Amino acid sequence: MFTRWKRYLQFSIQYFLFERPKGLDFTMRNKSLLKKSDGLYHGYSRTTEKHTKAIFDSLILNGEDKLLDIGCGKGAVLRTAAEYPFQEIAGIDIDANLIDIAVRNFQILGIEDRVSCMRISATKFKEYNKYNIFFMFNPFAGPVMEKVVDELLKVSEKKAITIIYHNPVYLELFRQKGEVTVLKQLYDKTKNYYTCIFTVKPMQKTAS
Ligand SMILES: C[S@@+](CC[C@H](N)C(=O)[O-])C[C@H]1O[C@@H](n2cnc3c(N)ncnc32)[C@H](O)[C@@H]1O
Repeated sequence: MFTRWKRYLQFSIQYFLFERPKGLDFTMRNKSLLKKSDGLYHGYSRTTEKHTKAIFDSLILNGEDKLLDIGCGKGAVLRTAAEYPFQEIAGIDIDANLIDIAVRNFQILGIEDRVSCMRISATKFKEYNKYNIFFMFNPFAGPVMEKVVDELLKVSEKKAITIIYHNPVYLELFRQKGEVTVLKQLYDKTKNYYTCIFTVKPMQKTAS
């Protein structure tokens, strides 16, 4: 309870002092999608900047990495990613309203040429193979996640991929379908969530 209030206080201070005066909006007010989809798609919530930095600081980036935030919301993670040497930074989200806000945020910050985002469902997106690092903050429930896991495993047949899964509720789905190697686990004490950073490869076929 105390943690939750502390978190709201931190987010409010950040919003009223640093974001709203510039016209930025990374606030967590949009819960509409959560209600509309009977829990299949999770609503918007943001990863804290401090935790996002801890995640990106822990990666060894070689200047050629391409990041996709699956369920990017208002673009908080992508904004932080722009400070790191990714070759490409992109996000997708099913909610057009959130994408509009993300685009405006990037324009205000002057990073619209560095970061792109588009409104599309993760189940319809066809360009996963352009990326090698995937970020997800518990964006959807099992049935949707299952389809996305299949898509990511197809990419992993062609190249090494890294998944950053914040609040990894459906990590087991990756384990059921592929060979998961956990690289790191980080804990965000502001939100009381773990982040699992792992690689996944297609399951080795055992000789019969
Ligand atoms: C918890 S928020 C994470 C936002 C951002 N990645 C962050 O960490 O700050 C999850 C996002 O996933 C989006 N989402 C839910 N279902 C989706 C789907 N099928 N395809 C794409 N995005 C989806 C929601 O609209 C929401 O913005």
